[in-house]
Amino acid sequence: MSEELVSRFERDGEIAVCVIDSPPVNALGKAVRLALVDAVEQANADDSIKALVVRCDGRTYFAGADVREFGRPPEPPYLPDVVNTLEASAKPVITAIHGTALGGGLEVAMGCHFRIAAKAAKMGLPEVTLGLMPGAGGTQRLPRLVGVAKALDMIAHGAPIGAAEARELGLVDELVEGDLAEAALAFARRVVAEGLPIRRTSQLDDKLGDAGNSAIFDDFLARNAKKFRGLDAPAAIVDLMRRTLTLPFEEALKQEREGFLKLRDGPQSKALRHAFFAEREATKIPAIGKDTPRLKIEKVAIIGAGTMGSGIALAFLQSGLSVTLVEVAQEGLDRGVGTIEKTLSRNVSSGRMTEDTARKTRDSLTPTLDFSKVADADLIIEAVFELMEVKQDIFRKLDQYAKPDAILATNTSYLDVNEIAGATSRPEQVIGLHFFSPANIMKLLEIVRADKTSLTVLATALDLAKTIRKVPVVAGVCFGFIGNRLLNVRRVETEALLLAGASPYDLDRVVEGFGMPMGPCRIGDLAGLDLGWTRENSTGNTVKERLCEMDRRGMKVGAGFYDYVDGKPQESPVVLEMIDAFRKEKGVTPRSFSDEEILERMLYPMMNEGAKILEEGIALRASDIDVVWLFGYGWPRWTGGPMFHADAVGLDKVVAGLEKMGHEPAALLRKLASEGSSFVEYDRANAK
Ligand code: COA
Repeated sequence: MSEELVSRFERDGEIAVCVIDSPPVNALGKAVRLALVDAVEQANADDSIKALVVRCDGRTYFAGADVREFGRPPEPPYLPDVVNTLEASAKPVITAIHGTALGGGLEVAMGCHFRIAAKAAKMGLPEVTLGLMPGAGGTQRLPRLVGVAKALDMIAHGAPIGAAEARELGLVDELVEGDLAEAALAFARRVVAEGLPIRRTSQLDDKLGDAGNSAIFDDFLARNAKKFRGLDAPAAIVDLMRRTLTLPFEEALKQEREGFLKLRDGPQSKALRHAFFAEREATKIPAIGKDTPRLKIEKVAIIGAGTMGSGIALAFLQSGLSVTLVEVAQEGLDRGVGTIEKTLSRNVSSGRMTEDTARKTRDSLTPTLDFSKVADADLIIEAVFELMEVKQDIFRKLDQYAKPDAILATNTSYLDVNEIAGATSRPEQVIGLHFFSPANIMKLLEIVRADKTSLTVLATALDLAKTIRKVPVVAGVCFGFIGNRLLNVRRVETEALLLAGASPYDLDRVVEGFGMPMGPCRIGDLAGLDLGWTRENSTGNTVKERLCEMDRRGMKVGAGFYDYVDGKPQESPVVLEMIDAFRKEKGVTPRSFSDEEILERMLYPMMNEGAKILEEGIALRASDIDVVWLFGYGWPRWTGGPMFHADAVGLDKVVAGLEKMGHEPAALLRKLASEGSSFVEYDRANAK
């Protein structure tokens, strides 16, 4: 993009205005950086200019450095120099913030001498969420404006703050309600008229009193130890700020830049940047564009008021949609409504929701036992138990009652959506919307595109995900779609490892050590080991079934792989004895497994299954599989997801590992490995 396209240099009397317009988010790419330096030079070269305003057109102020440039060699002018140039300007520089001033965006703002902001603006240094530290003076200028403790909190956690708080803290000088561009001009004129002295952030030190107090940094680390587990960037940020805030500014900037580059080139930041773009990429479906027609969704009906149904209802209610909740029995309906009520009350008492919003939300819910009430719904989601006959029966009924253009969705987690669609006369209106429990909290929404699902229905579902603040991934029809298909492979491997000699507690320890929130055995206990199990149909052929036969059906009964004492899991000698006896019965001589071998056996078969999913076209991209496991199963974000992690391990190593464990590697995996390629390259080559 050329410089001309991203900026305008305007004059209003004595005031020069540099307007940046680089859609979509005014990221600070090379052309934008050049434009900023150029504006400072022009303003300083012209005696008739007394002050410079820097602002952005479009939906937001600078949303940060251009993250896409991080993978390439940096090109001048470098952002830290741009910020220094702004700060060094002999003419006052006033900047006006709207939307989000993030990362490099806030660093630019802090390089300016005065900051005004729209009331709704947000600002922060979220680099840590990309595995980075600020690299253009953020670690040095923010504490000079808001104090050391607050800056540490904002930089190491990365959460943005609102304009009102920023004003209180001294990060911005004025809040603006009306026209921001006008307000910026007025502010600049005042600076000139009153001869306000130029205020360079790097020269302020009245808020740095705590900089030499090591206890602040130690306490902060201790308080956040759990949150920062496994992550490189927060510790590096705390360490850098501890060492540099007492140094001369120039030297501190140098050390910050070194710290930034080290993190940028490290594996965690690469993985976290991948996760950032993968999430956005997943929403792009070939053949769906802005001009694809969408349906209007205002009224939603949900069939089934169980855990899933009531969770899904909450997700819609909390986004302002009205929901009809349908059950067959009063008791079930009451229980579902009770769950919703409880969550809303909790939100009020924790301050997350006002009493007024909670009341309005409650008013938007219509519980009913009358199936025909689905008739005016724009979207109907079935969330009853996983039995094909039951689901087909419901869809037959929906066909009868739903209005012609209603979207008919199933929340099935394993079943064939084509078969479900086949029970209706309008399969093009049928789609899978696979929510994850608890549905009002978990971010992932697997959208299952059946053979006949229309593009309009698919496009509407993708937009809807955004409305209810979910991360959507589109999957084709197969057993378990993307997420549960990988989970199932891990389940099979878990059984194989237990039989061969591994302890359930070692499996969990290793998987949790890798960064998953829970290992496979704890997950089993939490979900209930008796899912799909009955005493009559028990084959007794797996450890899981044996546990159920012992009535150790999981956490809900206080015993599963673990004994639960006051809800806390404890290893159970009874379980170990049972597994021992089970091995003897099967004629297996147990052997020991190293942690490394356990981890490989837990991960590689999942990566292999991911490759098969790609071959079959169930997922559009390897990165979509990553998004599913990042947002639906708590895969550690700093490793990028199962497929990105496979690249990091090395596909040849994964192939060799699979062969050693007796698994046939997928053809695609073999091919990429033999070409020295990767899933990232596969995605790039297949990008539409
Ligand atoms: N660099 C490059 N591209 C960026 C970007 C950045 N810093 N921030 C956003 N984008 C791109 C997105 O990839 C997306 O591109 P696409 O439309 O081709 O997919 C587009 O800008 C819009 O972003 P999106 O996140 O979909 O829009 P939004 O309105 O929901 O959110 C932001 C806007 C700015 C809040 C959000 O994009 C964000 O948090 N960006 C990252 C900010 C950041 O971490 N900055 C520090 C970098 S050091």
